[in-house]
Amino acid sequence: MNHRQGFKIHHFASLLKHPLKEVRTCVGQVLKEAGVTCMGWICDKLWEFFNFFRKKPCMSISKEAIDHLFNDARTANGFVDKAVPLSLLKQIYEIAKMGATSMNSQPARYVFLTTPEAKARLMPAMSPGNVDKTNSAPVSVIVATDSQFFEHMPTVFPNNPNAKAMFEGNAALAAATASRNGTLSGAYFMIAARALGLDCGPMSGLDAAKVNAEFFPDGRYTTNFVINLGYGDSTKLFARNPRLSFEQVVQVL
Ligand SMILES: Cc1cc2nc3c(=O)[nH]c(=O)nc-3n(C[C@H](O)[C@H](O)[C@H](O)COP(=O)(O)O)c2cc1C
Repeated sequence: MNHRQGFKIHHFASLLKHPLKEVRTCVGQVLKEAGVTCMGWICDKLWEFFNFFRKKPCMSISKEAIDHLFNDARTANGFVDKAVPLSLLKQIYEIAKMGATSMNSQPARYVFLTTPEAKARLMPAMSPGNVDKTNSAPVSVIVATDSQFFEHMPTVFPNNPNAKAMFEGNAALAAATASRNGTLSGAYFMIAARALGLDCGPMSGLDAAKVNAEFFPDGRYTTNFVINLGYGDSTKLFARNPRLSFEQVVQVL
């Protein structure tokens, strides 16, 4: 069995966690009968089988995962003394970057403040109520927006060769696209961080002009908001506030 076939087997085996019991049983039987010395041709058949199932709408994450990401997840107002390694920060980005943005524009930029010296540069811009929580966070992330995001359009959206020129010639469209999608990416970032076991404390209570002057003096990037990241201190949680109901916010037409 070559490397590629091994890769296919690995993915096929992941179907052992498929939500449909019939699929799990069938996969288990095939793997058992095929044994460890599985032949190459069978791998190709299994790969086709795997691809048939993996994008089916019945694939849903578990209730536990949904609770972890949303129902039980809380905004952190303080953090325990536990470091967040750079490798984990990188992993967050590698997940978050896959979130959808219009025309794949990806205008969000991130500055990871991981040392006391770097965080000290942010502190004068924070609202008084956000100072202690930011001090306690092992990492604070400036979520910024690249006003010139469209420079990357030929690479990130090659299917429309006119995309870069379109934004260059329409400042209002570029600004709206940057704002909308930069914020979306910030949200993807928080969900990715939660998925990896971290807690987030997003904050817009800050003087964005001061952050811009300190970190983005050339004016190309602008500060959207800051996320404190780390392992939350549960003793610092506020009471959970109510969410609006489906009936209050949804129109079904
Ligand atoms: C974009 C954004 C900005 C926020 N700014 C602040 C802030 O400046 N200071 C603060 O204490 N909380 C801030 N929050 C936290 C919200 O108040 C909190 O997420 C919300 O009340 C929900 O809390 P929960 O997740 O614990 O239910 C912000 C949240 C978001 C998403």
